[in-house]
Amino acid sequence: MNRPKIIELPIELSNMIAAGEVVERPSSVVKELVENSIDAKATFIKIDLMNAGIDKITVIDDGIGLSSEDIAMAVKPHATSKIKSASDLFAIETLGFRGEAIPSICAISKMTITSSLNGYEASFKKYEGLKLIDEGKTSFTQGTKIEVSDLFFNTPARYKHLSSEQVELSHIVQLVNKISLAYPEIAFVLTNNAKVLFSTDGNSNYEAIIAEIFGTDVAKQMVTFNAKSSLYEIKGYTSSNSIFRSNKNGIIIMINQRIIKNANLVYAILDAYKTYLPVGRYPVTIVEIKANPTYVDVNVHPTKQEVRFTDEKELRYLITNTILDALKKVELVYEVKPDELKNIVVKEAKTVKEKDFESDVKSFKWDDFPKGSLENNTSDAFNESSLPKKSDTTVSEEQAFYYDTSYQDAESTTNNKKQQLSFNFRDDHNFFQSLSYLGQFNLTYLLFEKDDNLYLIDQHAAMERIMYEKIKEELQKPCESFYDLLIPLEITLPDFELNLLDDKKAFLTHIGITYDIGENHIVKIKTIPTWINQNFASESLDAILSDVINDLPVSKDAFYDEFAKTMSCKKSIKANMHILTEEVSCLLQDLDNCSNPFTCPHGRPTIIHFTKYEIEKLFKRVN
Ligand SMILES: Nc1ncnc2c1ncn2[C@@H]1O[C@H](COP(=O)(O)OP(=O)(O)O)[C@@H](O)[C@H]1O
Ligand SMILES: [Mg+2]
Repeated sequence: MNRPKIIELPIELSNMIAAGEVVERPSSVVKELVENSIDAKATFIKIDLMNAGIDKITVIDDGIGLSSEDIAMAVKPHATSKIKSASDLFAIETLGFRGEAIPSICAISKMTITSSLNGYEASFKKYEGLKLIDEGKTSFTQGTKIEVSDLFFNTPARYKHLSSEQVELSHIVQLVNKISLAYPEIAFVLTNNAKVLFSTDGNSNYEAIIAEIFGTDVAKQMVTFNAKSSLYEIKGYTSSNSIFRSNKNGIIIMINQRIIKNANLVYAILDAYKTYLPVGRYPVTIVEIKANPTYVDVNVHPTKQEVRFTDEKELRYLITNTILDALKKVELVYEVKPDELKNIVVKEAKTVKEKDFESDVKSFKWDDFPKGSLENNTSDAFNESSLPKKSDTTVSEEQAFYYDTSYQDAESTTNNKKQQLSFNFRDDHNFFQSLSYLGQFNLTYLLFEKDDNLYLIDQHAAMERIMYEKIKEELQKPCESFYDLLIPLEITLPDFELNLLDDKKAFLTHIGITYDIGENHIVKIKTIPTWINQNFASESLDAILSDVINDLPVSKDAFYDEFAKTMSCKKSIKANMHILTEEVSCLLQDLDNCSNPFTCPHGRPTIIHFTKYEIEKLFKRVN
């Protein structure tokens, strides 16, 4: 067989190949152009789209600009003004550095670059798939305008893969939202078909930008945090547990002002929320990480969104612990609100259709963004009136916690699952003990009253929380008491797991588990800590060893947490159990001693409350 000849690809073709990695969709073009504007020290960046960028994308900035020769250089592959040597590559201070965005985009579109270095004279060059078709002089303000039209005109397969305008637009809106959070000092304007979709004023006002993106109600409920470790400094905003979404899109992570994708860091954030949020619910969290650029490798992927960190573990601990601390400072009690009652009543009476609930979702919400499908989107989702209003007042940190939220997220509204929370600093450490006990309902719920309010505690959820915190506290201490097993407990493990186990011997000893390894892969457990109930010693040990071996909960804390959760479930009193008045007092006292008594370890509420007004409303004594 004849071997095909090896040839060097023509430049147009190699750029089209590179474009495959860099340019996936219109939002990729917006990303690269906006990043270039940022690198060019722009203070104002305007992004104009025609039909969601599918027909045309224009990015205008007031940055340092390009000369006519610079423009010609910029469209050449691997031409960059941002790095000069390999050493620069290990300490990237700009968003770009690979010199491949402009040529890649140019190769698959019709691109015109216009730029002025002095604010009146300008040069322009017009390309069609890298072929220069026109150039000359014109006038333009200081900075650069790059117009990209007919994206993928010469790569029909790519063009066919474009989603609907709505979907493409949502990608761009999310992208610009995120970039504006990373660069609050730059003013951004985003328009589609001449309609303004999003804008920021460049005044570094984070709260205003968060309000613009997520709505004022979310902005009000954000808790700030900041902390430092030896390598990293983090600061940011994270939502109280009254604000949660059904997807992770509200989690935004930046390192040195670069927006990144990093599953481990997302996990670190979710770890902090573990016992606060119900399963499948996610917070809104914005984390800004600062680090010496040499600790961060951004040259992992052409889109530069993946990075490698030096000592990522340290960073993960820092994030989890800092957010946990921030959350501990706030408390919540689920409050049943009149309009929620209205929904309950309405639902039973079946007088209001789903549609009516949808109509009160007015603002443009993060969760409304389509995720690759248009199913749930109304055609006017992006019209002018659906834009969030600029927040006219800035909420100070302390004020934020006293807001009685009227926040409803779009999804929970339509699902009739509205849960309203009231939210205060936890200054009353005897809150639970101040409740007067009325009795037990259905052998499951404990009824209390206080100040015209009726409270219901789910006894099982409450016990779970108490046990969880007790077990967890117990686990944090080095084990002082353990049982010597007269007859060793035997667990069989495959060879590779035995080796892994040996690595963890010190840790296991620390928590009170000692063992010998016998023949035939048998681990003979000699001692176990007293917090392991002997009745389920073997299943507990199985779980512990498997978690330890698989490094599952990555940190010791996470391990304790997971285990404490399981154990608390097993040890708690169940629903359907009669409870004595003295036991109720103990329960209340224990709840007061909990650091977060308001949710069970799985994020469900332990206590809900009705006001007298709401009850009177149900009896139609008031309107
Ligand atoms: N908006 C802009 N303002 C000034 N210079 C720009 C702009 N866009 C691109 N450039 C110049 O073009 C070069 C090539 O851009 P690009 O292909 O994105 O590569 P990179 O950003 O990786 O350097 C940049 O290094 C920069 O010098
Ligand atoms: Mg670039």
